[in-house]
Amino acid sequence: MKRGIFIVLEGPDRSGKSTQAALLKTWLEGLGHEVMVTREPGGTYLSEKIRRILLDPKSRIEPMTELFLYETSRIKHTLEKIIPALDAGKVIISDRYTLSTTAYQGYGRGLDLKTVETLNRIATLNLKPDVTIVFDIPDKVFAQRERLAQKVSGPDRIEREPSSFRRRVNKAYKVLSRKPGMTRVDGGRPVEEIQADIRACVKNILKTYPAAGKPRRQEGHRGA
Ligand SMILES: Nc1ncnc2c1ncn2[C@@H]1O[C@H](COP(=O)(O)OP(=O)(O)OP(=O)(O)O)[C@@H](O)[C@H]1O
Ligand SMILES: [Mg+2]
Repeated sequence: MKRGIFIVLEGPDRSGKSTQAALLKTWLEGLGHEVMVTREPGGTYLSEKIRRILLDPKSRIEPMTELFLYETSRIKHTLEKIIPALDAGKVIISDRYTLSTTAYQGYGRGLDLKTVETLNRIATLNLKPDVTIVFDIPDKVFAQRERLAQKVSGPDRIEREPSSFRRRVNKAYKVLSRKPGMTRVDGGRPVEEIQADIRACVKNILKTYPAAGKPRRQEGHRGA
């Protein structure tokens, strides 16, 4: 069976995830790979609807309700989009995945990390990314980008959270980026330098796939 590659880009708001995802896609396509860029929350019709609810400043959402909404969006995204694309041998680049829930709902909202971990595992059907690239940006750079950000639609519900919440999330990413299995990237550097590091990392993974055919999730958990 064909096996694709699952790449996840993680990091705080405005850390450069979307910029790097687009560049990575262009490069991989140039190498002849079929690439699918997707995002969380979102990625499917239903998940994008949940995204709208989550980001709507008018939504009043308790932390645990928020966690379940993110995980509902995730399980649909995983079943409907990610797993079929992997089975078709594609390279999937997801702008955010489980680590975002750990950072925002776990560290940011203060929900029990074990609960977050359990729900992450259920919502992914135990699917693990081949690589999770985590952007760590210096606080000064983060503050600069925040000042520069001028969104036509104004800040969303999460961006309206007080700066103490953002500080907790940013700090969490700093810690999480250094955990085993994570590929930390210093996001405060020029775009091209960061992209070169990401390409070097992805190049290594390309060497292993699709030939290895390692089981990437427990059989019997496929669901769809
Ligand atoms: N390495 C970089 N140096 C300077 N500016 C950058 C760099 N990477 C991205 N930017 C700029 O910072 C802003 C945020 O980048 P981007 O949208 O890629 O981040 P993001 O992580 O996807 O943000 P969000 O979580 O809000 O979607 C953009 O204006 C982008 O042009
Ligand atoms: Mg983005």
